[in-house]
Amino acid sequence: MSIPSSVTRMEKIVSLCKRRGFIFQSSEIYGGLNGFWDYGPLGAELKRNVKDLWWKSMTRLRDDIVGLEATIIMHPKIWQASGHVDTFSDPMSTCRACKKLVRSDQVWEMLETSPWADSIRATHSDAGIDREALAKWAKGKGARVAPSLALVKDPDAILARIAERLEEAAASVQTLFRLACTASAEGPLSIPCPHCGGELTEPRPFNLMFKTYVGPAATEEDIAYLRPETAQAIFVQFKNVLETSRVKVPFGICQIGKAFRNEVTPRNFTFRSREFEQMELEFFIKPDEVVQNQTGSVAQLSTETLLSDPQPNWGWELWHKYWVEERFRWYESIGLKRSSLEEYWQKPDELAHYARATVDILYKFPFGTQELEGIAARGNFDLTQHQQHSGKSMEVFDQEANTKYVPHVIEPSAGVDRLILALICEAFEEEEVADDKGQKEVRTVLRFHPRVAPIKAGIFPLLKNKPELVKKALEIRDALRPHMNVFYDDGGAIGRRYRRQDEAGTPYCITVDFDTIGENGPEKLDTVTLRHRDTMTQERIRIADLHAFLSSQIQ
Ligand code: GAP
Repeated sequence: MSIPSSVTRMEKIVSLCKRRGFIFQSSEIYGGLNGFWDYGPLGAELKRNVKDLWWKSMTRLRDDIVGLEATIIMHPKIWQASGHVDTFSDPMSTCRACKKLVRSDQVWEMLETSPWADSIRATHSDAGIDREALAKWAKGKGARVAPSLALVKDPDAILARIAERLEEAAASVQTLFRLACTASAEGPLSIPCPHCGGELTEPRPFNLMFKTYVGPAATEEDIAYLRPETAQAIFVQFKNVLETSRVKVPFGICQIGKAFRNEVTPRNFTFRSREFEQMELEFFIKPDEVVQNQTGSVAQLSTETLLSDPQPNWGWELWHKYWVEERFRWYESIGLKRSSLEEYWQKPDELAHYARATVDILYKFPFGTQELEGIAARGNFDLTQHQQHSGKSMEVFDQEANTKYVPHVIEPSAGVDRLILALICEAFEEEEVADDKGQKEVRTVLRFHPRVAPIKAGIFPLLKNKPELVKKALEIRDALRPHMNVFYDDGGAIGRRYRRQDEAGTPYCITVDFDTIGENGPEKLDTVTLRHRDTMTQERIRIADLHAFLSSQIQ
């Protein structure tokens, strides 16, 4: 079966998420709240599994990383020191006609999916502009889809201006859009509103932090912020962790938690939300000069470098590459194919002023290839800022190197919600299969890796009115459920029960039948049918072996 186009694929994914209880719009019965999403029963399990796997891989399976769980609201000076109060903003424009707010740097991207822009684009080609079609559109359909567009309001004048600047407009569809939306003949061309085609105001910075007040007075002095990233709590607790845990540089502190950004245009389902979760690691390393003094030379990347085996002579560049590799390995371990991911090295002019290098791990979402995680080499910017603003030293005394320094940091920072969306997109598949009677039907299946799957096994008695079958199935459920999430289902035909679990992404189904209870002889007594989601094949397995088998798949 052919792969559906990206829009319909995304629509199908959004609809499945709602239908099966993965993701709901927040506050839906009140019309929803833009940029906020809730996770239903299956989504909550999926999210928990992903966070647990990240936490385990970072802390339990390593000696050099410890965890932290800090508050969401922290001292407001933190956000001054980090630069968020002054610079954490996006450029925003307002539409003069429909008054909607738009992120100025995303207008062209939004026009890609804007219906009015689409129909204008149809009149434009490399060969030129179909002026007749454009005039027809302006006087007809345009009035419905882009009522505020200057071309629609005053077609003759704007068409005349387009005719005057025909070559320019033919060379770039962006110029055609700008001409079509700019009413005033003088002055520069405006950017069009992706919603209605009206003129947008000049961009102005809009700080993305949510503000609140601490305490009842609610004066200017009481302003605090909901954290826009979890990272800063790690920097401000760096000294406490160092002094209370048995760690020494190089070591990391990691945290999972909510972050809030008042995004101008939340979009693409949960991809850009206003409330979301991050999984962040700050991995503290020695400055290169210290490594040089201590080991004689800072290691360079060569074909012999084993990036999975950190060495005392590693400087920031090797540690940075190490973390990029580690993160790719982790994504693959939870079911994202390497071919669905991309590695993007930010160009010097894209880097934050404090960053020495940043690699983005991108995922090929149906709506485009977009960032899943950023891995930044941040130097000692953050600790130095907090040292200056708090007046508290962030230096460590390194006994091995016999010197003091402010550590540098490598920061792998991932978004949980984006990862959940990527896992659902990766897993979603529709395939044509034959039903029991040989009729073709479409099977919707989520091919989650068993490690992340919300339900690990469905457990079914073949018939619900046979007490022996029900009793056995419930016994299996009770034996397995302290160890993993399983789901008992006795409703409807067995084929329908399998399909329901396929849509939930359950990798295995266990059916208790008459063989299980020994009705067809002793050799199959206490065995069950194990059905594999991906291949739909079935095998016989002893009940006594179920736990070991399932555990081996989800470890
Ligand atoms: N401490 C560094 C930091 O916060 P970031 O690139 O701004 O860096 C890290 O955010 C990750 O957080 C992103 O790669 C993304 O996965 C996630 N993220 C950021 N903004 C988000 C939003 N509005 N909605 C969902 N996830 C977001």
